[in-house]
Amino acid sequence: MQSSSIEKAFELFCFLVILFVNQYVFCIEAGTNSDLNSTVARSVDTFLLSTSLPVDTTFTFPSPLPLVVPATGTNFGKGKIDLGGLEVIQVSISNSTSSQRVWRTFEGGPDNMGVSIFEPINLPPNFFKLGLYAQPNNRQLFGWVLVARDVSGTSLRPPVDYIGVGDTRTIFVNQDGPAYFWQPVCPNGYEAVGLFFTNSPQKPPLKQESISCVRSDLTEQSEVDTWVWGINGMSVSSLRPANRGTEATGVYTGTFSFQQANLPSLSLFCLKNTKFDLSSMPNEDQTRVLFQAYSPWIYLHPNEEFLPSSVNWVFSNGALLYQQGNESNPVPIQPNGSNLPQGGSDDGLFWLDYPSDKDTRERVKRGDLGSTKVYLHIKPMFGGTFTDIVVWIFYPFNGDARLKFLFIKSLSLGDIGQHIGDWEHVTLRISNFNGELWRVYFSEHSAGTLVEACDLEFQGGNKPVAYSSLHGHAMYSRPGLVLQGQDGNGVRNDMARSDKFLNTGTGYELVAGPGIVEPAWLNYFRKWGPTVQHDIQRTLEGIAKTLPGLLRKKFRNLISKIPPQVLEEKGPAGPKVKRSWTADE
Ligand SMILES: *[C@@H]1O[C@H](CO)[C@@H](O)[C@H](O)[C@H]1NC(C)=O
Ligand SMILES: *[C@@H]1O[C@H](CO)[C@@H](O)[C@H](O)[C@H]1NC(C)=O
Ligand SMILES: *[C@@H]1O[C@H](CO)[C@@H](O)[C@H](O)[C@H]1NC(C)=O
Ligand SMILES: *[C@@H]1O[C@H](CO)[C@@H](O)[C@H](O)[C@H]1NC(C)=O
Repeated sequence: MQSSSIEKAFELFCFLVILFVNQYVFCIEAGTNSDLNSTVARSVDTFLLSTSLPVDTTFTFPSPLPLVVPATGTNFGKGKIDLGGLEVIQVSISNSTSSQRVWRTFEGGPDNMGVSIFEPINLPPNFFKLGLYAQPNNRQLFGWVLVARDVSGTSLRPPVDYIGVGDTRTIFVNQDGPAYFWQPVCPNGYEAVGLFFTNSPQKPPLKQESISCVRSDLTEQSEVDTWVWGINGMSVSSLRPANRGTEATGVYTGTFSFQQANLPSLSLFCLKNTKFDLSSMPNEDQTRVLFQAYSPWIYLHPNEEFLPSSVNWVFSNGALLYQQGNESNPVPIQPNGSNLPQGGSDDGLFWLDYPSDKDTRERVKRGDLGSTKVYLHIKPMFGGTFTDIVVWIFYPFNGDARLKFLFIKSLSLGDIGQHIGDWEHVTLRISNFNGELWRVYFSEHSAGTLVEACDLEFQGGNKPVAYSSLHGHAMYSRPGLVLQGQDGNGVRNDMARSDKFLNTGTGYELVAGPGIVEPAWLNYFRKWGPTVQHDIQRTLEGIAKTLPGLLRKKFRNLISKIPPQVLEEKGPAGPKVKRSWTADE
């Protein structure tokens, strides 16, 4: 507390000296931005340095995929999943035997590098395409689409017609000839799941081999997942189930939609697992093998004072349970958390806090890297066709938020952002067809980012690297500075490698998921720290008043541009109380 206010005073002092003594420094400092290290800047660099597009390189994991031994009682890793009358397999787009590129353009879309369309080929006997796959050219080739076999006799039907949903004849961009996109018109009781492509205006043949329609009860509503490409009023988006979460049955199918201005946009569906019995989820041994293969490295910032710990460490080192109306009689928490109130709701009746004795309090706040373990929650995703391994990490304390404002590199926002008890997570999303890591989710201040495996940094095999931001502990896939604000000003998220890191594979515990016994602390639903009562607007106004008039307005304007959740940390809630516990990230 004291040191941060001295720091703040020092910063303001420098600020004033620089402002009134040498206004040129302002221009130099504000223009440098040397510590900004954004993913975008890097990918553009990569592009300029290489003559071919990123998509021309096939992504491969640094090491072979984990060898997960098949087990009785589970269909995990068997390559196919029965959705109830419809058997599906996951066709890898990066395998040139099973997929081919049918079209590409070199402009539009992410980084203005264009898009590539791929078609599954050489399908196993009786398997049919449901749609094609599209990916932006600014990424290495990595992706998949499902193909299906009718095991009921009525699950698939050929289309009865096609509707042209758009073509690229009229756009003057560098492309492999014009592309025509077709939506199947399905017989009654059947739905289209994906689009077909041709390079001539002639409709594709009305054969099941072109593309299949799926019986309606085996489909669900879909929605846009990511923007894949767009130019001149046209756009291509990947699709995901509209309903997602541990109880949801929608299956991510891997197809895309095409929209063109002034043309009707028709619904496309995703598949549904009508046999939602979790029979393709990995068992506990298989889960451990997967986690050993993909367990993230988590790097803390070199200046980080507020390190993580195990929950047992915090319980054994003085954490106290408080009860509303009984504040003068807090009780020590059992090292295994067994005396924490169980269940109920986050009603404010109880909370945790650290001893008021200053030395003990400061020591607990600083955590204990050596004791740190991560806690795994195993979640079925997309109707049990994927497994989410949610990697939870506990920090006894979340430090103050800091702002980059004009030439002040790091202005502490005092008690804003500070709170006791900070739960953060990184989620591994793994295919139940083949055990391949598909995406990783990084939680960042009540939101987060899903990163495809091809865009991850790996270390020590197929283990992704995560960077925990200084003080706020938001998780990022890259080191550097991310500012939440505008024009090079905003709340700082500083990430860097240091000798403070966690190799999560060496210290973890399975705490929740099918068949897993949950520790008592997981079912403690109240706050892991006292509710922070600071008035954010007042604190910010206090800081604004210390600034010279001409900058005060700029400061207030910047603050209004910062998403409120960045400043209002929801940290003290335990993992099971967070929305993502049962929802998709
Ligand atoms: C590529 O696809 C072919 C045909 O589907 C399959 O036989 C082969 O095993 C695949 N290769 C890899 C590396 O998955
Ligand atoms: C509340 O007070 C009673 C004694 O008056 C004590 O036994 C109890 O442990 C207290 N509860 C908590 C959670 O502090
Ligand atoms: C937790 O620890 C207490 C003693 O500290 C013990 O009595 C209790 O059985 C333990 N509970 C569990 C679930 O291990
Ligand atoms: C920016 O990122 C690159 C690649 O990860 C790294 O080598 C470099 O050290 C980073 N620079 C800063 C200032 O963090």
